[in-house]
Amino acid sequence: MNVQLVTSRFEEIYAGGVPSGVCQAPGRVNLIGEHIDYSGLAVLPMAIDRYVWAAFRPRTDNSIHLASDDAAYAPTVFDLSDAIQPAPPGDWSNYARAAVQALNHALDLNAAHGMDVFIASDLPAASGLSSSTALVVATAMAYLSCAGRPLEDEADRKRMAEILAEGEQYVGTKSGGMDQAAILLGQANAALKIDFDPLRYETISMPDECAVVVCHSGVNANKGGDAQSDYNRGPAMCGLIRELVEHHAQQEFGDEIEFATLGEIWSGPLCLTHSEAAELFEGALTKDHYSLAEVAATLGADESALRERWPNLPATTGDELPLRAWSRHQYQELRRVEKTRDALLCNDLAGAGQLMLESHASCSEALCVSTRELDALVKTAMANGAYGARLTGAGFGGCTVNLVPKNLVATFIDAVWSQYYEAGPGSNRGFSAPEHAIFEVAPANGAAYR
Ligand code: GLA
Repeated sequence: MNVQLVTSRFEEIYAGGVPSGVCQAPGRVNLIGEHIDYSGLAVLPMAIDRYVWAAFRPRTDNSIHLASDDAAYAPTVFDLSDAIQPAPPGDWSNYARAAVQALNHALDLNAAHGMDVFIASDLPAASGLSSSTALVVATAMAYLSCAGRPLEDEADRKRMAEILAEGEQYVGTKSGGMDQAAILLGQANAALKIDFDPLRYETISMPDECAVVVCHSGVNANKGGDAQSDYNRGPAMCGLIRELVEHHAQQEFGDEIEFATLGEIWSGPLCLTHSEAAELFEGALTKDHYSLAEVAATLGADESALRERWPNLPATTGDELPLRAWSRHQYQELRRVEKTRDALLCNDLAGAGQLMLESHASCSEALCVSTRELDALVKTAMANGAYGARLTGAGFGGCTVNLVPKNLVATFIDAVWSQYYEAGPGSNRGFSAPEHAIFEVAPANGAAYR
């Protein structure tokens, strides 16, 4: 895909109309720091050189016309209003509706006119590579440009990442802010260690001797559709954990202690070290499984009030909430993010790879967000010379991310193709050629006008 192609497709679809602009938003791959961004804890993703493109022009009326290059996404029209009605769950236009609604509310752009938008992409959808957030960001940039306020400096990008992270909740997914930040702040040649509240980042140059390879498990995971309730369970469990840890901290340090996110245990007034934080978590959660009634009794809260506060908790009949496993994942994964940052900065690829494996094991065994296929892909990667491999993004299907010695990339791809896609659990998954199933990605700059 390129500017000329997107422009000419726009002209065909909108009857000869010329776009006023074109923008591109990259996907992202998360190297490490999974299922912790919604707790306000640091993550380490990188924007990748696969994109969602948008060609656009303002309209004189107040409707937004959307069309896609992909026949799976039917053309849609919706009107601007104070409260834009969502399309049925799973409809692709909800991501565009989310972007426009968020900007109208945050920037008071309601007077803006509508727009014609044409979308094209080389980023596989429902694969854990953030194609939906790339669509949100591309639509937002188009809308801003049509309103005469194109995205400009870095402060603008950070603000936009925060606005769109909150705005994307419109689709019903209770995600954190990793994807929007990676897509808007990405840097060529570097991964980003992203911290939240306030949003800030450090660029982590990727060592020359390694390549990042993405392998698709062949199982789609649509976080805005079928996988939404699986995904939303995580933020709900972590919400409950935050309440329990806060309650325990109040008993230890005094009633005035409060934290809005688990991240504030490290960054807020308590400002604990890693070992102090671990001690606090272990003191708050003293056994593996809890019933909601027990949690309610500990907190002096009503069970039904907790259910209302955290509607996405799994339905339980007894001691079934695996809260200790989820809480350990939170503080241990944060530590792995920091150690991976250090390992990458001093070219310790074996060390970074080991941390990726530990992260995958925790996602698979403690959080149960992996699948048989993702576990098999990680094993296949490790048997073929990867430094490390793990599921990337939400899980429940989608892709693995693999850190591979640069000089082994071609043999690695051939071996994984024959062992996983031709002969293993990935066979018959509809991939006709390795390049659609396994591809090297490079760190890319954040979303831009072209
Ligand atoms: C999805 C969400 C992110 C993050 C990951 C899991 O990609 O959009 O906010 O929670 O899952 O780490």
